[in-house]
Amino acid sequence: MEQIVYLNGALVPRSQARISPFDLGFLYGYGLFETMRAYSGLIFRLGIHMERLRRSAALIGLPLEALDLGKACYDTLKANNLADGRIRLTVSIGEGEATPNPPKHPRPTALVIAASYTPPSAKTYQKGYKAVVSLIHQNSQSPLSRLKTVNYLNQLLARREAKEKGADEAILLNESGLLCEGSTNNIFLVSKGNLTTPDEESGCLPGITRQVVIELAKELGLKVAEREVRLEELLNADEAFLTSSLIELMPLTEVNGKPIGESKRGKVTERLMSAYKEAVVKETKQGA
Ligand SMILES: Cc1ncc(COP(=O)(O)O)c(C=O)c1O
Repeated sequence: MEQIVYLNGALVPRSQARISPFDLGFLYGYGLFETMRAYSGLIFRLGIHMERLRRSAALIGLPLEALDLGKACYDTLKANNLADGRIRLTVSIGEGEATPNPPKHPRPTALVIAASYTPPSAKTYQKGYKAVVSLIHQNSQSPLSRLKTVNYLNQLLARREAKEKGADEAILLNESGLLCEGSTNNIFLVSKGNLTTPDEESGCLPGITRQVVIELAKELGLKVAEREVRLEELLNADEAFLTSSLIELMPLTEVNGKPIGESKRGKVTERLMSAYKEAVVKETKQGA
């Protein structure tokens, strides 16, 4: 069966989906996106993904009020007979002229793609990722840094750099040399049993998984500090891990060829990985 996508209110076969060449998302990167996971027919934390999207949309003047995007995500999932998978929601400001001026009366383009998702293997979750610190820096002063805009070239180039250097992931510092995030994930350090993660002022995306992990860690009685973090703190941490809606929690066991802690998945990371899985199961059952 051909993949079905949601585009501007209709569910259409992938081969028939068309976006205008005058769409300012394409011409200037004027748009936002969300990446979500569905488990057993439930889109995990859909509400907070939508909240982040609407908050960001208000900041860049993208009117989303008329769109029921949550329903669009579920409709796309169902149209593709998927209970589990990944959902990519993209909204742009819509058509304009090929000049750098936003349209006076924007009519946003909304696209939802749902597809099956194969997570990294159990072996990878056991071994963890090796990362390099990217030559690309995040600009904490740019309005783009905390938003999930369709300008992801920095992140894509950082990923390419990681691949070229034989690593699984790239870590981005900000313009002050402080720790920011992974190319498409947030970062946590574990030291003496407690968690530290760069604060939003670092320029990192306020990740949904980051937020869930902070909640779970507090429930487990761990202390969590959101603050400025120096790269040396990461290199000297007992454990570290990366978070995103797709990878959930991935141990980070090596950075720039240096082991983190004992260079293996740590106990605190393991506890939080299990707590996250349990939260997914619990919320999925409630949603059923
Ligand atoms: C730059 C960046 N940081 C962090 C994240 C993690 O965000 P979330 O947990 O909402 O998936 C992502 C996800 O794609 C990202 O692209």
